[in-house]
Amino acid sequence: MPQAGRSVVFVDGVRTPFGKAGPKGMYAETRADDMVVKTIRELMRRNPNLPPERVDEIAVAATTQIGDQGMTLGRTAVILAGLPESVPGYSIDRMCAGAMTATTTLAGGIGIGAYDVAIAAGVEHMGRHPMGEGVDPNPRFVSERLVDMDALSMGNTAENIHDRFPQLTKERADAFALASQNKTAKAYADGKIQRDLVPIAIRTGELGWGLATQDEPPRPGTTIEDLAALKTPFRPHGRVTAGNAAGLNDGATAGLLAAEEVADELGLTKKLRLVSYAFVGVDPAIMGIGPVPATEKALAKAGLTIDDIGLFELNEAFAVQVLALLDHYGIADDDPRVNPMGGAIAVGHPLASSAIRLMTYLARDFEDHPEVRYGLTSMCVGLGQGASVIWENPHYDGK
Ligand SMILES: CC(C)(COP(=O)(O)OP(=O)(O)OC[C@H]1O[C@@H](n2cnc3c(N)ncnc32)[C@H](O)[C@@H]1OP(=O)(O)O)[C@@H](O)C(=O)NCCC(=O)NCCS
Repeated sequence: MPQAGRSVVFVDGVRTPFGKAGPKGMYAETRADDMVVKTIRELMRRNPNLPPERVDEIAVAATTQIGDQGMTLGRTAVILAGLPESVPGYSIDRMCAGAMTATTTLAGGIGIGAYDVAIAAGVEHMGRHPMGEGVDPNPRFVSERLVDMDALSMGNTAENIHDRFPQLTKERADAFALASQNKTAKAYADGKIQRDLVPIAIRTGELGWGLATQDEPPRPGTTIEDLAALKTPFRPHGRVTAGNAAGLNDGATAGLLAAEEVADELGLTKKLRLVSYAFVGVDPAIMGIGPVPATEKALAKAGLTIDDIGLFELNEAFAVQVLALLDHYGIADDDPRVNPMGGAIAVGHPLASSAIRLMTYLARDFEDHPEVRYGLTSMCVGLGQGASVIWENPHYDGK
């Protein structure tokens, strides 16, 4: 492998259950910073071999960095989580790929020896901070036609992918969405998803205190007829619906990264080994195609081909953009290597937090499949980007 520097491993990952954004959602009265703090505390609790003072850096991603997602969230999270005051932290933003960027940026620091251990985290409370809150796009975007107006509405960019690739029909998108619901329901029934959830206290004015223990967005029992009947909010007679798109969600994630030699020294688990990563820009009007060139670049850097990838965790911002990647590589829509425990269409997509959910899922996929050596986590990003990270399975048995 052409990787330079020290080997970097993903030691562990956790998340809060994801919620539905909005006044009726379970986190309506829960602060975003409290959610991410909970995940960081859980990581430390689950990894007692890690002395807290050995954490060299914390990077927390959020797309909207104001209010309870502002004030250099990485550093405020350190203080709120009760970590030693010597631990530094900062915030990071690449919209949906925020936590992926936190991971790769910290991994780079580990690789060159600046850090031994670091925490990458992400949070998005889309109820408290709806998409686009407080943004002030430069008028030149429009006056100089730098981007198509569609680029500012993610749903429109998904409709554009349906236009661009007519073989990616609404029927295929709905079938993919249904499978995501079914796989999520099965993974829940098998107790697979719960393993990496941290329950968190919630409260509402009506019901008082409660505990969030499972994801709120999934809709088990969805049928293909239900999906076919949904409105197409982004375009009359369009193809993108609330059923084949990820929803608007609240949630937080955190992942522990370490130099492999330090993980060995401290006796930490090794769930994923970083192989390569790439971020690539694409036409913002079809931002969902981003994972294709990002994956191409990450594969090239790793000296691998798509045939070497045995498991895929692809963020389901919209069914059609996942299908675009699968189609590009000639992978069947229902290939069992793809999102084996379901994905964002069912479980939710709290923007900047989602990448660490993908990594946490891939870590569990790898445990179940020691015969698989390499896996991919990939996602599209608003304003036209793709993000891909290739990981090696530390449990690979060489068979
Ligand atoms: C698509 C979108 C606009 C829908 O928003 P919404 O209308 O608030 O969504 P809802 O959850 O209320 O669902 C709308 C309707 O579909 C129904 N529905 C949704 N999923 C369903 C399913 N799987 N089965 C049956 N019905 C379903 C809901 O019950 C609701 O019905 P109602 O209108 O009768 O109450 C919104 O989820 C969205 O913008 N998603 C994309 C988010 C995004 O861009 N993320 C970034 C990606 S880069």
